[in-house]
Amino acid sequence: MRVHVPGRVNLIGEHIDYHNLAVLPMAIQRRICIDFTTIRDAVVRGYSEEYGRVEVALQGDLKPDAPGAWSNYIKAAVQAVRARWKLTQGIEAKVTSDLPPAAGLSSSSALLTGFTIALLQANGIEPTVEELMEVLPDGEQFVGTRGGGMDHAAVLASEANCSLLVGFAPLSLRSVPIPDTWGFIVAHSMKTAEKSGGAKEQFNSRRVAGQSGFEKIHAGSKLSDEEERAVRHVQSEGQRVTEAVCALQRNDKVAFGALLCESHRSLRDDLRVSCTELDELVDVAMKNNALGARLTGAGFGGCAIVFCEKDDRERMAQALVDGFYVKRSGFVKERHLIFAEPSAGALR
Ligand code: GLA
Repeated sequence: MRVHVPGRVNLIGEHIDYHNLAVLPMAIQRRICIDFTTIRDAVVRGYSEEYGRVEVALQGDLKPDAPGAWSNYIKAAVQAVRARWKLTQGIEAKVTSDLPPAAGLSSSSALLTGFTIALLQANGIEPTVEELMEVLPDGEQFVGTRGGGMDHAAVLASEANCSLLVGFAPLSLRSVPIPDTWGFIVAHSMKTAEKSGGAKEQFNSRRVAGQSGFEKIHAGSKLSDEEERAVRHVQSEGQRVTEAVCALQRNDKVAFGALLCESHRSLRDDLRVSCTELDELVDVAMKNNALGARLTGAGFGGCAIVFCEKDDRERMAQALVDGFYVKRSGFVKERHLIFAEPSAGALR
């Protein structure tokens, strides 16, 4: 049997899903693929050419391995499944992928989601998006970050040629078609953002700052500078998502692009989750007449999303090479510059 799970790129709505504000990601054509067979033993045996073999028991204690170890994603899947279902059958699974890891494209959520679906299917269970959304975001916390549900919703429920407006508490999913002439390039900053590694504490601290900021507003007490900036980002970004959906629906590229740029400024100056590489990348894109550009995903490295006319993508990619990548070693076009096509999620 086989499960495909795409990566995702977030168009707009960054660092607000965990405050239950709506976000607008889309699934992309790059994906992980899990080929698996059902086995009698109550274990998951995973194999990947890149990361080797791991074995995780379905029962018993689930202690995390070293940060970044890929067994943690399988353990997270086992935990997610156990939160709701009873399993008897294990799987033997081989993972292949053309989705670059630690790039802000949700390779980790894709892996967790893929193993979760594979395990359920092996046990004769066909889960719904809603059921999976109840267990996956918590499962992810097993690997260390405390993100929201955006990534899982996007990789599960996106439809081809559409972005997905994801609302939380209660969960709502609405496909918003992307006009055919709109083009998106996902450009890697060449700085890896390992959410289960170095960026983990930074990520979690932004979440805490926003949360305590909102609690203080509620209680009428004074916010620290950090809390104030986090709250300002969250509130303005929430508003930008609403405006971006309207811009998308009336095919207004200029307005949509401007919102992406404002989002980047807010993430850079208020929430402070950007880095020099991402700022430079966005700068190069805008100097070369992109319609908009911003960091996408958690930040601290990873990717920027560049918005331009679909027909203009080759020129734009070349401008990014000349203005950004040429100065850096290790650039591989097919890994670091992806023309993102709005694609279907794992359950579509
Ligand atoms: C990570 C998390 C998401 C979201 C983004 C920031 O990708 O997994 O839930 O919080 O960061 O928007």
